[in-house]
Amino acid sequence: MKSELRARLCGRFEPPGDKSIGHRLALLSAIAAGRSRLEGFPPGQDCASTLGVVRALSVKVSWDEDVVEIEGRGLDGLEPPETVLDCGNSGSTARMACGILAGQPFTSRLSGDESLSRRPLDRVVVPLTSMGAAIETTQGFLPVTIAGGQKLRGIDYELPIASAQVKTAVLFAGLYASGITRVKESIPSRNHTELALLAYGASPVIRPGEIEIRGGSSLSSLSGGRFRIPGDFSSAAFFIGAAAFLAGSELVVENVGLNPTRTAFLEALKAMGADIEVEPSPSLGEPKGRVVVRGRELQGVEIPREKVPALIDELPILAVVAAFASGSTRVEGASELRVKESDRLSAIVEGLRALGADVSESGDGFEIRGAGFRRALRPARLRSFGDHRMVMAWAVAALGVDGECGIDHLDQVKISYPGFWQTLERLVC
Ligand code: S3P
Repeated sequence: MKSELRARLCGRFEPPGDKSIGHRLALLSAIAAGRSRLEGFPPGQDCASTLGVVRALSVKVSWDEDVVEIEGRGLDGLEPPETVLDCGNSGSTARMACGILAGQPFTSRLSGDESLSRRPLDRVVVPLTSMGAAIETTQGFLPVTIAGGQKLRGIDYELPIASAQVKTAVLFAGLYASGITRVKESIPSRNHTELALLAYGASPVIRPGEIEIRGGSSLSSLSGGRFRIPGDFSSAAFFIGAAAFLAGSELVVENVGLNPTRTAFLEALKAMGADIEVEPSPSLGEPKGRVVVRGRELQGVEIPREKVPALIDELPILAVVAAFASGSTRVEGASELRVKESDRLSAIVEGLRALGADVSESGDGFEIRGAGFRRALRPARLRSFGDHRMVMAWAVAALGVDGECGIDHLDQVKISYPGFWQTLERLVC
């Protein structure tokens, strides 16, 4: 990838629909009563994997441009799949689907691609098993077989890791369990499931650090089945981060999700001295709005551990921004990065070192002693390990380097942001 000498980003864009919200609404729509219309549905392969699973359970789905319509079959209306359910590259699909499938009268089998088959599943298998599910993994990984006809019972579960996927799997299984299922978390993870359950009238009880759901709560959309999914903050973050450090940039991001459990990256950038304005727009469910970013020199920042889940997917781009800031940026408590689509901690450190940045790696984080924007890093070949977010982070790094960088697996952006390269080309000025 060849970059302009010190490119800038100018103009406005709208990111694709939020992937996290897309998975949840697709799965809940499948087991709700009536038809749901999901506007702004995410175009990437990950949510397509979720729709594939839903279709294989005999749910009617139509997908036209960014509108998905799902004919819900009610809590007990899913039918046995005729094939193995392929989750592709999507951890959210696999883990959340386990929650629903654990409560079905039929047996199902889930598989995934090579990367997903290396990602741990025990985190959902352990609580689901204690609810009474019978799940057989391949030594803790996919493929997995979920036996049908088990009687689930509600549990009190304290999340041992801050994971919204695990929280979601347990709550989805809770819909099929007797009694009450309660999930507690000491560090908040994204709360899209809580908001989606509310929107579907499942009456979850939500308290700080705790959510409970009653088994058998039937789902029926409170919005007449119509949802407008806001833009994905995690996709927008690559452009927000780029515009923040590329001096002279001026970027407007329209209709982007601003759920505070997702936007700690904005706080981090502001603490680095970034020029960012946030204009929330009125919304009933998921917060959203406009973000305006202007590029300037940034300083390093210390990320508190408890903020990590609220910027977990933004850490690759944060690391890139930090390499072009002055002074030290430290991240701790991010061992979850090792089990994402790639080991993102080592991918970040390897790539930044190749660019000439001064970086150290720990078991659960990194420290970057930034060169400052005026001291150019050097061009390099950057490995993405087939991980969509690493590809996009390296694309941004390449914008700040004088010369040509090589990045592999460019087409992996299809997982979360198929239009990434076109948007980048349009915004570079
Ligand atoms: C997600 C939760 C996070 C995040 C992932 C999407 C979700 O994973 O990294 O991209 O939609 O719930 P964990 O729940 O494993 O932390």
